Amino acid sequence: MQPEIKISASILAANPVRLEEEIKRIEGAAIDLIHIDVMDGHFVPNITMGPFIVKGIKKITRVPLDIHLMISHPEFYVKDFVDAAGEGDFITFHIETTRMPEAIISFIKSKGLKAGVSLNPLTPVKSIEHLIESLDMALVMSVNPGFEGQKFIPDVLPKIAALRNASPDKLEIEVDGGINNETITQTVRQGANVIVAATAIFKADDPCAAIRTLRQKAKEAAKR
Ligand code: DX5
Ligand code: ZN
Repeated sequence: MQPEIKISASILAANPVRLEEEIKRIEGAAIDLIHIDVMDGHFVPNITMGPFIVKGIKKITRVPLDIHLMISHPEFYVKDFVDAAGEGDFITFHIETTRMPEAIISFIKSKGLKAGVSLNPLTPVKSIEHLIESLDMALVMSVNPGFEGQKFIPDVLPKIAALRNASPDKLEIEVDGGINNETITQTVRQGANVIVAATAIFKADDPCAAIRTLRQKAKEAAKR
């Protein structure tokens, strides 16, 4: 059986000057993970949050963090994020950004955190096959990284299936981008179990209700 369904709320669509309030609110729906999108203006055409935001968030919540590094040369910065985060939190970097994925993965794990590697929509599963054994998570991007509110790219679904086939019950498989009450079903059916949503949660009238609906849709899809 694939690992349990988790909903990861991306604060990219939250009110940036009211982050504490926004995070406290979704704790009301027992959110599983808080997804933090770190962008460097180099690997992706947008600039967002750094280690100091992670550190601040860590002080106000006990919900595990799901840190998504969209930065060039993550090997230069991974220590800062490890120090800002805590045991059990996930740190995921992009395979397109580094020549030393093995070293980054073992560093993250040696500090008691969980290691993930992400694939852009056009990057094949083959590029991380040799890493699967050492990974806690694989993140399949279902939009081109950089912005919230983009349209889901269904072409990535076979990559989710291939990863689940390679690891039927151990690997956390995360999908990120364009997830809503419709697209979530197909991703879970292919084997995704960690579902990221920014717009679908924080732009909803009632973010807690939105999380509950997403979780219910995912659980229904997982049963089939
Ligand atoms: C995109 C980010 C995503 C984004 C998802 O580059 O990695 O996490 O916040 O936003 P939605 O759910 O609105 O597509
Ligand atoms: Zn993300």
